[in-house]
Amino acid sequence: MTFEGYAIVSRDGMLADATGVMPETLKFDGDQRFFDKALDTVDLIVHGRNSFEDQPNSYNRKRVIATRQVDRPIIDHANPKAVLWNPARAPIEDAGAVLGITAGRVAIIGGTDIFDMFLDRYVDFYLSQAPHLALPGGVPVFHGIPARHPDDILSQHGLVPTETRVLDAAHDVNVVHWVRKPLA
Ligand SMILES: NC(=O)c1ccc[n+]([C@@H]2O[C@H](COP(=O)([O-])OP(=O)(O)OC[C@H]3O[C@@H](n4cnc5c(N)ncnc54)[C@H](OP(=O)(O)O)[C@@H]3O)[C@@H](O)[C@H]2O)c1
Repeated sequence: MTFEGYAIVSRDGMLADATGVMPETLKFDGDQRFFDKALDTVDLIVHGRNSFEDQPNSYNRKRVIATRQVDRPIIDHANPKAVLWNPARAPIEDAGAVLGITAGRVAIIGGTDIFDMFLDRYVDFYLSQAPHLALPGGVPVFHGIPARHPDDILSQHGLVPTETRVLDAAHDVNVVHWVRKPLA
């Protein structure tokens, strides 16, 4: 399995506001299209219980949902393409195997704990940013923000920024593609 992260953050590195919800002001059509297309190409999605991406194709996608409510990975009775997984009790590989996924591309889509958990394993991270929006007291993309910048955290974990793509020119929303630095 290879792991790639997808997040959009405010200027201060937040993925949701102080009430714990991703506000409409952090949603941009260009970013949503980019995210939707990417998720259609991966083999598996991993997210916390509140981070379902809610797109037209969502129910066709295989996913692992992190929750403390199970001991071992089990199929979600509400969705046969979803597995409930407790990261403290089993490796992600065991959760993927329940869905028949033992190799391929895995998209990590949040929230904070789930993004943090894979920091040493990402081969790619697509970090979108809305530079004109601040969400003080919000939910950070990684633990340690806002004292630290998300870029510092990605760098510390061996990732380097490569190309930047404009997703919404009117709001200056870009996505930076971070990749794992090859071992010297
Ligand atoms: N801007 C972005 O790119 C982005 C990305 C992701 C999410 N969001 C938004 O952020 C908001 C907040 O999401 P959230 O903070 O509630 O995150 P979340 O991780 O999606 O959901 C939290 C729940 O996931 C489970 N969970 C999280 N960490 C876990 C761990 N270490 N071990 C086991 N289970 C774990 C727990 O479920 P149980 O209570 O069942 O144990 C926890 O209550 C949502 O509005 C979401 O849409 C935005």
